[in-house]
Amino acid sequence: MSGNKRVAIIGAGPSGMAQLRAFESAERQGHDVPELVCFEKQADWGGQWNYTWRTGLDEYGEPVHSSMYRNLWSNGPKEGLEFADYSFDEHFGRPISSYPPREVLWDYIAGRLEKSDVRKHIRFTTVVRLVAFDDATQQFSVTSEHLPTGETTTETFDHVIVASGHFSFPFTPEVDGIETFPGFVTHAHDFRGAEALAGKDVLVMGSSYSAEDIGSQAYKMGAKSVTASYRTAPMGYEWPERFEERHGLQRFEGSTAFFADGTSKDVDALIFCTGYMHKYPFLPREFAVSGANDLYPEQLYRGVVWNDNPALFYVGAQDQWFTFNMFDTQAWYVRDLILGTAEMPSKAEREQSMTAWQQRYRATPTNGADQIRFQADYVRDLMGETDYPTFDIDEVANIFVDWKNHKRQDIMGYRDYCYRSVMTGTIAAKHHTPWIEELDDSLERYLSPGSANREPSGARA
Ligand SMILES: Cc1cc2nc3c(=O)[nH]c(=O)nc-3n(C[C@H](O)[C@H](O)[C@H](O)COP(=O)(O)OP(=O)(O)OC[C@H]3O[C@@H](n4cnc5c(N)ncnc54)[C@H](O)[C@@H]3O)c2cc1C
Ligand SMILES: NC(=O)c1ccc[n+]([C@@H]2O[C@H](COP(=O)([O-])OP(=O)(O)OC[C@H]3O[C@@H](n4cnc5c(N)ncnc54)[C@H](OP(=O)(O)O)[C@@H]3O)[C@@H](O)[C@H]2O)c1
Repeated sequence: MSGNKRVAIIGAGPSGMAQLRAFESAERQGHDVPELVCFEKQADWGGQWNYTWRTGLDEYGEPVHSSMYRNLWSNGPKEGLEFADYSFDEHFGRPISSYPPREVLWDYIAGRLEKSDVRKHIRFTTVVRLVAFDDATQQFSVTSEHLPTGETTTETFDHVIVASGHFSFPFTPEVDGIETFPGFVTHAHDFRGAEALAGKDVLVMGSSYSAEDIGSQAYKMGAKSVTASYRTAPMGYEWPERFEERHGLQRFEGSTAFFADGTSKDVDALIFCTGYMHKYPFLPREFAVSGANDLYPEQLYRGVVWNDNPALFYVGAQDQWFTFNMFDTQAWYVRDLILGTAEMPSKAEREQSMTAWQQRYRATPTNGADQIRFQADYVRDLMGETDYPTFDIDEVANIFVDWKNHKRQDIMGYRDYCYRSVMTGTIAAKHHTPWIEELDDSLERYLSPGSANREPSGARA
């Protein structure tokens, strides 16, 4: 059915890897799958989870992709992101805790594909420079550069799947007086570790995940004080002593920050936790997702099909409560559209569906629980279209809602909580060391003996 089709996948992060897995699963079932070429600018797979110490430009002068820091731990329970076709139990051979550090999650994502031979489809250290569409041939041309040699290649493809992520190009607003601020200034994208913030007065600008987590890392590593400056609404957690929120960073005079409530504070470091931009430098404007970081990007039918050219797809382009298992359901659906086992609706039908989802999204209250259930329904909709193994999506949504509540109860202790897997029924093991005390984030330390010795507490029955 797929004939001699060629498919380009841009990015081998969790979304691109999900796409490779989806095609591999069809191949195992005897489908004739297209020729796949996955372009990955980094030297290994894992996307954001492929940590690098580098910031700014990499060794080839390319913008560094990953925004993760050394001591990052999952900020949501792993039971919310678990693959339906490859459980944590299968990978680690025993229960692990609900909030693993970055390296442990990278190991899990990679582990699913290591048993297959999909790596052969990936061209590492190869960056996509330009994608163009030829109306006459109805094909895409993709120009890429092999970074170590500088060699460029242009090839044609029937489909392009954009899986290049959207938390890599930092958004950094202007702040009056910052040009003479004598302290340390960076964006969360370039933040690599909080150790150097010990003993410092730290200001984080923003009130979302990066502000919360980088502020917490700074606190954990012994910052003298942490101030989080919000624009719209405070995070509102019960912060420990030395951690506070203030409204509206307005300007600097020397090292003094001034806020909208008339207060001021001397600080040593400012970290912009002001989010990221949709940016696809290799795509012409008419193919590039733009706008805010939304749960339902405007230009995408079912969150994956570029409506004005349904040979072009995106995986992972929306804001994310659900991550790995959502990317899977998207990848399975995209695969089926390409294989022709799922029907591509007409443009008018797609538009009708997009309008309905958009209206529903706009009417969804902005509180966490409603937004989570919106995305749960979106994932359920995709799951119903494919043979991706079904799982109890409502229970996963409940886990996310519980997670929000646990953060309200104990923002510095929520990562010690254990959840039950909806995939296997296993209750997570209590980690051997509470998150706030654990200074070694390595896989080796995480899996060291004793990690299953503490009694799990408070798991959902
Ligand atoms: C700081 C941070 C922490 C996070 N923590 C969590 C968490 O705890 N739990 C969770 O579930 N999610 C978390 N996320 C969300 C994260 O977005 C997803 O987990 C996941 O990494 C998204 O996968 P992706 O493949 O869509 O994008 P990415 O992981 O960003 O991967 C995209 C890939 O595309 C490649 N690429 C980009 N441009 C090109 C090009 N032109 N040519 C070739 N290759 C290209 C990149 O090198 C990269 O490998 C976090 C995100 C950030 C930024
Ligand atoms: N440990 C972890 O796992 C971890 C850690 C960090 C990040 N992440 C992930 O990284 C992704 C991105 O999160 P993020 O927090 O970086 O981005 P984000 O969720 O998009 O939040 C951006 C923040 O910047 C603020 N902001 C934007 N423009 C501003 C301006 N001009 N002035 C003041 N404030 C401004 C926003 O405030 P408003 O509310 O006013 O718009 C918002 O609080 C998420 O998927 C998250 O899960 C995970």
